Amino acid sequence: MEILLLGNELLHQKALPVKQITPEYQQIAADLVQTLHDGRGLGLAGPQVGRMERIFAVHIENDVPRVFINPSIIETSPETVRYEEGCLSIPGLYADVIRPQTIKIQAWNECGKPFTLEVTGLLARVILHEYDHLEGMLFIDRIPEQRREKIVAKYERIAMQKERRQKARYRV
Ligand code: NI
Repeated sequence: MEILLLGNELLHQKALPVKQITPEYQQIAADLVQTLHDGRGLGLAGPQVGRMERIFAVHIENDVPRVFINPSIIETSPETVRYEEGCLSIPGLYADVIRPQTIKIQAWNECGKPFTLEVTGLLARVILHEYDHLEGMLFIDRIPEQRREKIVAKYERIAMQKERRQKARYRV
């Protein structure tokens, strides 16, 4: 799967519920997990690969890969944590984001089985980050505007340099 990058409009659109979890979703889930492994990410959501559906995959160290379809966050703890985040759609850009420490989430897996999970720490953070993608929200939308403008400008400068280098390489 090809990962869409910052600047693509689809990353700012809300994803639609999956109507029916057909066997096809097992392959989609496997592809999402494979793509996040290839990119050395911790999570990947449908909109990031141009699938505007409410599905994401998460895989953190010392845990199994997990797939969430039509998820709802049913509880969030008042305790919050600040932690540095990145995103496969904004390579090379990292920033601190404040999020609830513990969450309870309800969803269906790729086989259509419903489940409820209470998680804390990194897994909770990654799930909330991916859930945001379904809402058309990126982690940079959760940091103060002044700081966001600064780091996005830096990201665009680096992206432009990269593009220029690539063009130079093809000029031969
Ligand atoms: Ni992301």
